[in-house]
Amino acid sequence: MHLSTSLVNRYTKEQLSAREAQRLAQFIAFGPIVFQACRLLVEFGILEAVRDAENGLTIAEAARETGVSDYAARVLLEAGLSAGVVLVDPETDRFQLSKTGWFLLNDPATKVNMAFNHDVNYLGFYKLDEALREGRPAGLSALGDWETIYEGLSSLPEQAKKSWFAFDHFYSDHSFDEALAIVFALHPKRILDVGGNTGRWALKCVEYDPDVRVTVADLPQQIGLMQEQTAGKTGADRISGYAVNLLDEASRLPAEPVFDVVWMSQFLDCFSESQIESILCRTAAILAPGSRLCIMETFWDRQRFEPAAFCLTMTSLYFTAMANGNSKMYHSDDFIRIVDRAGLEVESVHDGLGQGHTILVCKRKQ
Ligand SMILES: C[S@@+](CC[C@H](N)C(=O)[O-])C[C@H]1O[C@@H](n2cnc3c(N)ncnc32)[C@H](O)[C@@H]1O
Repeated sequence: MHLSTSLVNRYTKEQLSAREAQRLAQFIAFGPIVFQACRLLVEFGILEAVRDAENGLTIAEAARETGVSDYAARVLLEAGLSAGVVLVDPETDRFQLSKTGWFLLNDPATKVNMAFNHDVNYLGFYKLDEALREGRPAGLSALGDWETIYEGLSSLPEQAKKSWFAFDHFYSDHSFDEALAIVFALHPKRILDVGGNTGRWALKCVEYDPDVRVTVADLPQQIGLMQEQTAGKTGADRISGYAVNLLDEASRLPAEPVFDVVWMSQFLDCFSESQIESILCRTAAILAPGSRLCIMETFWDRQRFEPAAFCLTMTSLYFTAMANGNSKMYHSDDFIRIVDRAGLEVESVHDGLGQGHTILVCKRKQ
């Protein structure tokens, strides 16, 4: 199994003493409570108030500053001590932010993940067991009545929608600028963006190159959203939509015009292995000999830093419980095997973009 150097130690050898291991086991056992307590320390402004006070805050001061009861400030700050997000001075009883607390408050990735987990995942994860047994996103009923989350994206409850899109955009947006250089080195005149969502990548492309034309292929509801979001923006007249449900095996990608680049960003992780193979076979069918398929994905084994791999293997379970019940964040070896089965070969691999994306540039096998 391929593992980046940052993962080798942690994922292949025991790292903890027995005491540390026992503590981590308790941390997991109380995981949902740790999560909610820490989230509310942020939400109620308690961590911020503690950070901003020059010498920290007592419980009574934290309560006064943030308008919560003494009781609320006390239970949350005491839980925060055990969770490791605050420290207390035993002489003065004043609380200060720990390094972990600093990350909770300031790290954009942590903030986006926290909101995603609360607003999209939290309630539905109670049904993870059902989802795993039945191969369907059993937790999705906490948000609405759809077969997969993708059909419901445009009509999710407001807060869930905001956090879903923030999560999705956070990860892909950070890679788009580096990705543009890789894609436009292929000098495309026409790009097909499969799973193009709200058209953010399409807009980047038409802004980057004044001649390029982009077709966004996505579910019909998403195409409507994409048209709304791109309307009036520079180059929007060079963006068009193609409504398709690629889970329908009979569906096809547009064969005309010839696309120089087919782009799939954070798209194939929405599908099971056999569904990916089917979509890639249909993609191979429209690739001209000189055309390239550029797949941008986050592979958990190729991460430079272990916390990124952690986020990805955990995000896999969002796909299980909430999204569709059968997809995941893939290991690159598994993924490249599917690419190969679909009649494509990987021509080059570009690792380490943005928050940990890889681009696989693929062509049709001879
Ligand atoms: C995770 S989003 C990725 C969006 C965008 N490419 C990015 O990088 O941010 C996956 C996209 O795939 C689309 N999608 C999911 N299932 C689909 C299907 N069966 N047919 C077509 N598009 C689908 C979703 O509507 C969504 O826009």
